[in-house]
Amino acid sequence: MTTYRTHYSTELGLDNLGESVTLAGWVVRPRDHGGVVFFELRDMSGLMQVVVDPSEFPEAEGLRMESCISVTGTVQARPDGMENLDLETGEIDLAATELNVLSVADVLPFMVDDRTESDEVVRLQYRYLDLRRPRMAANLRARSQAIRAIRDTLNDLGFLDVETPTLINSTPEGARDFLVPARMRPGHFYALPQSPQLLKQLLMISGVDRYYQIARCYRDEDQRSDRQIEFTQLDMEGAFWDEEGVWATIEQVVAAVVERLRGVSVEVPLPRLSYTDAMIRYGTDKPDIRFGMEITNLSDVFVGTDFRGFAAVLDDGGTVRGINLGRHEMSRSQLDALVDRAKELGAAGLVWIAINEDGSFRSPVAKFFSDRETKGIVETLSASPGDVLAIVADSQRVVGAVLGEIRLDVGKPKDNDELSFVWVTDFPVFEQTEDGGLVPSHHPFTAPADVDEMRTAPTEATSRAYDLVLNGSELGSGSVRIHDPAIQAEVFEILGIGGDEAHSRFGWFLDALRFGTPPHAGFAIGIDRFVALLQNEKSIREVIPFPKTQTGADPLTTAPTLVADDQLRDVGIDLRPEVKAALAEAESTQAGDRAETLEGSDD
Ligand code: AMO
Repeated sequence: MTTYRTHYSTELGLDNLGESVTLAGWVVRPRDHGGVVFFELRDMSGLMQVVVDPSEFPEAEGLRMESCISVTGTVQARPDGMENLDLETGEIDLAATELNVLSVADVLPFMVDDRTESDEVVRLQYRYLDLRRPRMAANLRARSQAIRAIRDTLNDLGFLDVETPTLINSTPEGARDFLVPARMRPGHFYALPQSPQLLKQLLMISGVDRYYQIARCYRDEDQRSDRQIEFTQLDMEGAFWDEEGVWATIEQVVAAVVERLRGVSVEVPLPRLSYTDAMIRYGTDKPDIRFGMEITNLSDVFVGTDFRGFAAVLDDGGTVRGINLGRHEMSRSQLDALVDRAKELGAAGLVWIAINEDGSFRSPVAKFFSDRETKGIVETLSASPGDVLAIVADSQRVVGAVLGEIRLDVGKPKDNDELSFVWVTDFPVFEQTEDGGLVPSHHPFTAPADVDEMRTAPTEATSRAYDLVLNGSELGSGSVRIHDPAIQAEVFEILGIGGDEAHSRFGWFLDALRFGTPPHAGFAIGIDRFVALLQNEKSIREVIPFPKTQTGADPLTTAPTLVADDQLRDVGIDLRPEVKAALAEAESTQAGDRAETLEGSDD
């Protein structure tokens, strides 16, 4: 039997001096110091400096970075002054007595370290190298630890881990479905689940009582830094409980994950805020409450104002609101940039006021405010000398959206490691689309707070949906569900999914609800988002082993790819003529490109 390894690097320290050990891993930064070669060996645990005498091991000269090796050597203390305190193993190194190059690495497409910024597409194309970087390896470990903390907590609470299929019927969560053609029933398609929503509800009807799953979800939607077409949820559901039961459980899960990844405890219960309050105070349903700077109503200050811009908005039933951006030294052009930003965000304008040291206003419109208004602004926004104020007059929706964004542009948490969770509750049941139709604000299986209100005033009705927000990101969502088939059918009706359509799309689910459905409620946390936030990563791509690019491509495996005609024939599919034409054109351009490259190389 070959012994590739007796230890991991970071298991060794001054206690092991003189011992002969064997390590295995990859070559980092080989340095030839004339007569002695140094490099670091990287394994899963970290780095160890290795010292090799090239007269004994000639292969150490020209050792290629990232080659895979196994080294046996003697643990020795580094000479005085040569310690590297940035490294866990920085007080020792390994004097090689045996060197085995297991596999030589080719020329690298980028430097495999945390210091070099590389193009993301290239990183994804060689993801297996990218994942060797310590930061990426730490992210993978953190993800595994997070999932373990979730499982430990929920298993201890008696939850059952149940897998649900990924070739199913549509489960609407507001995105487009990914479809998979069914070879055995040509013309028919499976949909990949946007979430296990309906299946977990069926499990409640099955008597599972407490369910969870680390579930893969698929949504054909535009990707962003916090969205992938394929992502992972902690999905959970429970019967015979309501929002309080869900919240208490999720708080335990979240606290366990934070404890495991950050080593700090989260104070529970977490704060709660109604959707309406969040929109009024922060202009968003996912408020970042790490800093104050709340949006404050100034309409009362400007009742009967002579300042025409504000008077016209108030006469039209609009509102005047402002935020105190705090102490800032801002130049005239920086202040005017706030106005441009507000216009870009949809407001007609923005009034800025910088408070001088003597309390007077510096603002292009200060002269239009009466003494009473000036005093009202200072008092309502608790303004002090040095502060900068921003005021917008418009409809409540526009003012909230604009000041909410400006608040995020300017506001900064005091401490970058701070974690501020908040429950946002009492969402509306429906949202109005631009053409006046209604769509569910969460999903159509969410219970309304009051069924009569939903019937009589659907646009105002409140639901029993809730979100968990962390540092201004939506971490998860859930709701108490409808467990009465008649009310479920009514919701479909209001959404314009009437009789036959409801029956053909969701008949199977409405049927299931008729067999003694327990009251139930649940939640889903986006695991990619949670781990990215805890690892201080800006994009969830950094915590997903093999993510897709913004256009849904996988530069490593080259998916999505064209398939052979007979594969299409098997599933009864013929590409549409315009798709065929576009493909033929793309192919001829590529053939042209190839010809040019060949001609170029002949030169
Ligand atoms: P929702 O659609 O709000 O709810 O999703 C729950 C959480 O999943 C994460 N998430 C995503 N993460 C990465 N990429 C995406 N494209 C993406 N879409 C969503 C977010 C989000 O908060 N079935 C319901 C939950 C329930 O009611 O129990 C659902 O899926 O963090």
